[in-house]
Amino acid sequence: MTSPTPPGPGSVALITGGTGGFGRALTQKLRERDVTVVAADLDSERNRSVAEELGAHFVALDVTDRAANEAVVAQVEAEHGRLDAAYLNAGISAAKSDDALDLDEFMRVVDIDLFGVVYGVQAARPAIKRAGGGAIVVTASLAGLSPMPTDPGYSVAKGGAIAFVRSMAPRLTRDGITITAICPGFADTAIIDRIRHEFEAADFPVIPAAEVADAMVMAWTSGEPGAAYVIQPGVGTVPYKFKGVPSAKTATGETAVVPEALRPPSML
Ligand SMILES: NC(=O)c1ccc[n+]([C@@H]2O[C@H](COP(=O)([O-])OP(=O)(O)OC[C@H]3O[C@@H](n4cnc5c(N)ncnc54)[C@H](O)[C@@H]3O)[C@@H](O)[C@H]2O)c1
Repeated sequence: MTSPTPPGPGSVALITGGTGGFGRALTQKLRERDVTVVAADLDSERNRSVAEELGAHFVALDVTDRAANEAVVAQVEAEHGRLDAAYLNAGISAAKSDDALDLDEFMRVVDIDLFGVVYGVQAARPAIKRAGGGAIVVTASLAGLSPMPTDPGYSVAKGGAIAFVRSMAPRLTRDGITITAICPGFADTAIIDRIRHEFEAADFPVIPAAEVADAMVMAWTSGEPGAAYVIQPGVGTVPYKFKGVPSAKTATGETAVVPEALRPPSML
Protein backbone atom coordinates (compact mmCIF):
# COMPACT_ATOMS: atom_id res chain seq x y z
CA MET A 1 0.00 0.00 0.00
CA THR A 2 1.25 3.55 -0.76
CA SER A 3 1.38 6.21 1.98
CA PRO A 4 -1.62 8.49 2.61
CA THR A 5 -1.49 11.82 0.79
CA PRO A 6 -1.63 14.75 3.26
CA PRO A 7 -3.84 17.80 2.62
CA GLY A 8 -2.09 19.58 -0.22
CA PRO A 9 -1.79 19.63 -4.00
CA GLY A 10 -2.92 16.35 -5.54
CA SER A 11 -5.19 15.39 -2.64
CA VAL A 12 -8.98 15.26 -2.81
CA ALA A 13 -11.44 15.87 0.02
CA LEU A 14 -15.20 15.34 0.12
CA ILE A 15 -17.17 17.42 2.62
CA THR A 16 -20.83 16.64 3.31
CA GLY A 17 -22.80 19.66 4.46
CA GLY A 18 -20.00 21.34 2.56
CA THR A 19 -21.73 24.67 2.00
CA GLY A 20 -22.85 25.21 5.62
CA GLY A 21 -20.91 27.09 8.30
CA PHE A 22 -18.20 24.54 9.13
CA GLY A 23 -18.19 23.26 5.54
CA ARG A 24 -17.40 26.71 4.15
CA ALA A 25 -14.70 27.42 6.76
CA LEU A 26 -13.10 24.03 6.11
CA THR A 27 -13.29 24.46 2.34
CA GLN A 28 -11.43 27.75 2.65
CA LYS A 29 -8.66 26.16 4.75
CA LEU A 30 -8.28 23.22 2.37
CA ARG A 31 -8.34 25.38 -0.76
CA GLU A 32 -5.53 27.50 0.78
CA ARG A 33 -3.53 24.25 0.77
CA ASP A 34 -4.53 23.52 -2.84
CA VAL A 35 -6.63 20.52 -1.90
CA THR A 36 -9.29 19.64 -4.48
CA VAL A 37 -12.54 20.02 -2.53
CA VAL A 38 -15.89 18.48 -3.41
CA ALA A 39 -18.66 20.07 -1.38
CA ALA A 40 -21.67 17.77 -1.13
CA ASP A 41 -24.88 19.30 0.09
CA LEU A 42 -28.61 19.53 -0.53
CA ASP A 43 -29.29 20.77 -4.03
CA SER A 44 -30.00 24.48 -4.26
CA GLU A 45 -28.82 27.46 -6.29
CA ARG A 46 -27.46 28.99 -3.11
CA ASN A 47 -25.41 25.91 -2.22
CA ARG A 48 -24.07 25.58 -5.77
CA SER A 49 -22.93 29.20 -5.86
CA VAL A 50 -21.37 29.03 -2.36
CA ALA A 51 -19.22 26.10 -3.49
CA GLU A 52 -18.28 27.85 -6.72
CA GLU A 53 -17.26 31.06 -4.89
CA LEU A 54 -14.96 29.03 -2.63
CA GLY A 55 -13.32 27.22 -5.54
CA ALA A 56 -14.91 23.89 -4.64
CA HIS A 57 -16.77 21.46 -6.86
CA PHE A 58 -20.42 21.00 -5.91
CA VAL A 59 -22.28 17.74 -5.88
CA ALA A 60 -25.89 17.35 -4.78
CA LEU A 61 -26.33 14.85 -1.97
CA ASP A 62 -28.92 14.03 0.63
CA VAL A 63 -26.85 12.01 3.11
CA THR A 64 -29.88 9.94 4.15
CA ASP A 65 -29.90 8.36 0.67
CA ARG A 66 -27.61 5.36 1.03
CA ALA A 67 -27.17 4.74 -2.68
CA ALA A 68 -26.51 8.43 -3.32
CA ASN A 69 -23.56 8.36 -0.91
CA GLU A 70 -22.01 5.56 -2.99
CA ALA A 71 -22.76 7.42 -6.23
CA VAL A 72 -21.12 10.61 -4.99
CA VAL A 73 -17.94 8.78 -4.01
CA ALA A 74 -17.89 7.06 -7.41
CA GLN A 75 -18.31 10.46 -9.07
CA VAL A 76 -15.45 11.95 -7.04
CA GLU A 77 -13.14 9.10 -8.05
CA ALA A 78 -14.25 9.30 -11.70
CA GLU A 79 -13.78 13.09 -11.93
CA HIS A 80 -10.78 13.62 -9.63
CA GLY A 81 -9.06 10.24 -9.70
CA ARG A 82 -9.01 9.59 -5.96
CA LEU A 83 -10.46 10.34 -2.54
CA ASP A 84 -8.10 11.05 0.37
CA ALA A 85 -10.38 12.48 3.04
CA ALA A 86 -14.11 12.33 3.74
CA TYR A 87 -15.55 14.91 6.10
CA LEU A 88 -18.93 13.60 7.20
CA ASN A 89 -20.22 16.89 8.46
CA ALA A 90 -23.85 17.30 7.30
CA GLY A 91 -26.21 17.72 10.20
CA ILE A 92 -29.30 19.32 11.63
CA SER A 93 -30.68 19.83 15.12
CA ALA A 94 -34.32 19.78 16.25
CA ALA A 95 -36.29 22.77 15.06
CA LYS A 96 -37.97 23.20 18.46
CA SER A 97 -37.33 22.15 22.03
CA ASP A 98 -40.69 21.90 23.80
CA ASP A 99 -41.48 19.26 26.39
CA ALA A 100 -43.22 16.82 24.00
CA LEU A 101 -40.92 14.43 22.17
CA ASP A 102 -41.68 14.74 18.45
CA LEU A 103 -40.77 11.27 17.20
CA ASP A 104 -40.88 12.24 13.53
CA GLU A 105 -38.35 14.97 14.17
CA PHE A 106 -36.28 12.67 16.38
CA MET A 107 -36.05 10.11 13.56
CA ARG A 108 -35.22 12.81 10.99
CA VAL A 109 -32.30 14.08 13.09
CA VAL A 110 -30.99 10.55 13.71
CA ASP A 111 -31.38 9.72 10.02
CA ILE A 112 -29.20 12.65 8.94
CA ASP A 113 -26.75 12.99 11.85
CA LEU A 114 -26.14 9.30 12.55
CA PHE A 115 -27.15 7.19 9.55
CA GLY A 116 -25.78 9.82 7.16
CA VAL A 117 -22.42 9.20 8.85
CA VAL A 118 -22.75 5.42 8.67
CA TYR A 119 -23.58 5.54 4.96
CA GLY A 120 -20.77 8.02 4.37
CA VAL A 121 -18.17 5.79 6.02
CA GLN A 122 -19.40 2.75 4.12
CA ALA A 123 -19.20 4.64 0.81
CA ALA A 124 -15.86 6.38 1.38
CA ARG A 125 -13.91 3.48 2.91
CA PRO A 126 -13.02 1.54 -0.28
CA ALA A 127 -12.14 4.70 -2.20
CA ILE A 128 -9.82 6.05 0.51
CA LYS A 129 -8.24 2.62 0.81
CA ARG A 130 -7.63 2.65 -2.96
CA ALA A 131 -5.93 6.06 -2.58
CA GLY A 132 -3.39 4.47 -0.22
CA GLY A 133 -5.17 5.49 2.98
CA GLY A 134 -6.31 8.80 4.41
CA ALA A 135 -8.85 10.19 6.84
CA ILE A 136 -12.51 10.12 7.72
CA VAL A 137 -13.52 12.97 10.01
CA VAL A 138 -17.00 12.94 11.51
CA THR A 139 -18.49 16.15 12.81
CA ALA A 140 -20.18 14.92 15.97
CA SER A 141 -20.79 17.39 18.81
CA LEU A 142 -20.21 18.02 22.47
CA ALA A 143 -23.87 16.92 22.74
CA GLY A 144 -22.68 13.40 21.96
CA LEU A 145 -20.57 13.44 25.13
CA SER A 146 -22.80 15.62 27.29
CA PRO A 147 -26.42 15.04 26.16
CA MET A 148 -28.61 18.12 25.69
CA PRO A 149 -31.93 17.95 27.59
CA THR A 150 -33.41 20.21 24.91
CA ASP A 151 -32.61 17.88 22.00
CA PRO A 152 -32.76 14.12 22.66
CA GLY A 153 -32.58 13.16 18.97
CA TYR A 154 -29.45 15.23 18.41
CA SER A 155 -27.84 13.84 21.58
CA VAL A 156 -28.58 10.26 20.52
CA ALA A 157 -27.36 10.82 16.98
CA LYS A 158 -24.12 12.52 18.01
CA GLY A 159 -23.47 10.03 20.84
CA GLY A 160 -24.08 7.25 18.33
CA ALA A 161 -21.74 8.85 15.82
CA ILE A 162 -18.95 8.98 18.42
CA ALA A 163 -19.54 5.33 19.37
CA PHE A 164 -19.52 4.41 15.68
CA VAL A 165 -16.21 6.21 15.14
CA ARG A 166 -14.62 4.41 18.10
CA SER A 167 -16.02 1.06 17.06
CA MET A 168 -14.93 1.39 13.43
CA ALA A 169 -11.45 2.77 14.18
CA PRO A 170 -9.52 -0.53 14.36
CA ARG A 171 -10.84 -1.98 11.10
CA LEU A 172 -10.35 1.32 9.27
CA THR A 173 -6.81 1.59 10.65
CA ARG A 174 -6.11 -1.75 8.97
CA ASP A 175 -7.13 -0.06 5.68
CA GLY A 176 -4.78 2.87 6.34
CA ILE A 177 -7.71 5.14 7.26
CA THR A 178 -7.76 7.24 10.43
CA ILE A 179 -11.31 7.94 11.61
CA THR A 180 -11.90 10.63 14.22
CA ALA A 181 -14.79 12.64 15.66
CA ILE A 182 -14.88 16.39 16.12
CA CYS A 183 -17.00 17.49 19.08
CA PRO A 184 -17.48 21.26 19.12
CA GLY A 185 -19.49 23.10 21.73
CA PHE A 186 -21.76 25.86 20.44
CA ALA A 187 -20.22 27.45 17.37
CA ASP A 188 -21.07 30.41 15.20
CA THR A 189 -23.03 28.90 12.29
CA ALA A 190 -26.64 28.91 11.09
CA ILE A 191 -27.47 25.86 13.19
CA ILE A 192 -27.56 28.04 16.33
CA ASP A 193 -29.60 30.84 14.74
CA ARG A 194 -32.74 29.72 16.61
CA ILE A 195 -31.00 30.06 19.99
CA ARG A 196 -28.33 32.65 19.22
CA HIS A 197 -30.13 35.31 21.28
CA GLU A 198 -29.82 33.07 24.37
CA PHE A 199 -26.03 33.06 24.09
CA GLU A 200 -25.93 36.79 23.52
CA ALA A 201 -28.20 37.46 26.51
CA ALA A 202 -26.09 35.21 28.75
CA ASP A 203 -22.82 36.59 27.37
CA PHE A 204 -21.88 32.98 26.57
CA PRO A 205 -19.00 32.68 24.07
CA VAL A 206 -19.51 30.68 20.87
CA ILE A 207 -16.68 29.17 18.83
CA PRO A 208 -15.70 30.80 15.50
CA ALA A 209 -16.30 28.36 12.61
CA ALA A 210 -12.66 28.85 11.52
CA GLU A 211 -11.45 27.38 14.82
CA VAL A 212 -13.51 24.25 14.22
CA ALA A 213 -12.17 24.07 10.66
CA ASP A 214 -8.60 24.17 12.03
CA ALA A 215 -9.45 21.15 14.20
CA MET A 216 -10.91 19.38 11.17
CA VAL A 217 -7.68 19.91 9.24
CA MET A 218 -5.66 18.69 12.25
CA ALA A 219 -7.83 15.56 12.37
CA TRP A 220 -6.74 14.75 8.81
CA THR A 221 -3.03 15.53 9.34
CA SER A 222 -2.47 14.12 12.83
CA GLY A 223 -5.70 12.68 14.26
CA GLU A 224 -5.47 9.55 16.39
CA PRO A 225 -7.73 6.64 15.34
CA GLY A 226 -10.99 6.67 17.32
CA ALA A 227 -10.26 9.99 19.05
CA ALA A 228 -13.04 12.45 19.85
CA TYR A 229 -11.73 16.02 19.83
CA VAL A 230 -13.60 18.45 22.05
CA ILE A 231 -13.56 22.11 21.06
CA GLN A 232 -14.69 24.68 23.60
CA PRO A 233 -14.35 28.46 23.69
CA GLY A 234 -11.26 29.46 25.64
CA VAL A 235 -10.11 25.84 25.87
CA GLY A 236 -9.11 25.02 22.31
CA THR A 237 -9.10 21.51 20.85
CA VAL A 238 -8.44 18.64 23.26
CA PRO A 239 -8.90 14.87 22.89
CA TYR A 240 -11.69 13.65 25.18
CA LYS A 241 -10.51 11.16 27.79
CA PHE A 242 -13.05 8.34 27.94
CA LYS A 243 -13.54 6.73 31.33
CA GLY A 244 -13.31 2.95 31.42
CA VAL A 245 -16.09 0.70 32.72
CA PRO A 246 -15.74 -1.68 35.69
CA SER A 247 -14.20 -4.99 34.64
CA ALA A 248 -16.12 -8.24 35.15
CA LYS A 249 -14.93 -10.45 38.02
CA THR A 250 -14.67 -14.22 38.12
CA ALA A 251 -16.30 -16.27 40.92
CA THR A 252 -13.00 -15.97 42.85
CA GLY A 253 -12.92 -12.18 42.48
CA GLU A 254 -10.21 -12.05 39.84
CA THR A 255 -10.56 -9.65 36.90
CA ALA A 256 -12.15 -11.69 34.08
CA VAL A 257 -10.21 -11.55 30.82
CA VAL A 258 -12.41 -10.65 27.85
CA PRO A 259 -12.12 -13.17 24.97
CA GLU A 260 -9.42 -11.93 22.62
CA ALA A 261 -11.79 -11.68 19.66
CA LEU A 262 -13.97 -9.20 21.58
CA ARG A 263 -11.23 -7.19 23.25
CA PRO A 264 -11.36 -3.44 22.66
CA PRO A 265 -8.15 -2.10 21.18
CA SER A 266 -5.98 -0.53 23.87
CA MET A 267 -6.18 2.84 22.16
CA LEU A 268 -9.92 3.09 22.82
N1 LIG B 1 -22.58 25.07 15.04
C1 LIG B 1 -22.60 24.37 16.16
O1 LIG B 1 -22.85 24.91 17.24
C2 LIG B 1 -22.27 22.91 16.12
C3 LIG B 1 -21.74 22.32 17.28
C4 LIG B 1 -21.45 20.96 17.25
C5 LIG B 1 -21.64 20.22 16.10
N2 LIG B 1 -22.17 20.83 14.99
C6 LIG B 1 -22.34 20.00 13.80
O2 LIG B 1 -21.57 20.55 12.75
C7 LIG B 1 -22.07 20.08 11.50
C8 LIG B 1 -22.13 21.21 10.51
O3 LIG B 1 -23.12 22.12 10.96
P1 LIG B 1 -22.93 23.70 10.93
O4 LIG B 1 -22.72 24.14 12.31
O5 LIG B 1 -21.94 24.07 9.89
O6 LIG B 1 -24.41 24.15 10.55
P2 LIG B 1 -25.01 24.59 9.14
O7 LIG B 1 -26.48 24.53 9.33
O8 LIG B 1 -24.41 25.87 8.73
O9 LIG B 1 -24.52 23.46 8.13
C9 LIG B 1 -25.12 22.19 8.05
C10 LIG B 1 -25.07 21.77 6.60
O10 LIG B 1 -25.61 20.43 6.49
C11 LIG B 1 -26.42 20.41 5.33
N3 LIG B 1 -27.41 19.33 5.41
C12 LIG B 1 -28.49 19.25 6.22
N4 LIG B 1 -29.18 18.13 5.96
C13 LIG B 1 -28.52 17.49 4.97
C14 LIG B 1 -28.74 16.27 4.26
N5 LIG B 1 -29.80 15.50 4.53
N6 LIG B 1 -27.86 15.92 3.30
C15 LIG B 1 -26.79 16.71 3.01
N7 LIG B 1 -26.54 17.87 3.65
C16 LIG B 1 -27.39 18.25 4.61
C17 LIG B 1 -27.07 21.77 5.30
O11 LIG B 1 -27.59 22.07 4.00
C18 LIG B 1 -25.92 22.66 5.71
O12 LIG B 1 -25.16 23.08 4.59
C19 LIG B 1 -23.42 19.43 11.82
O13 LIG B 1 -23.26 18.02 11.85
C20 LIG B 1 -23.72 19.94 13.21
O14 LIG B 1 -24.56 19.08 13.92
C21 LIG B 1 -22.47 22.15 14.97
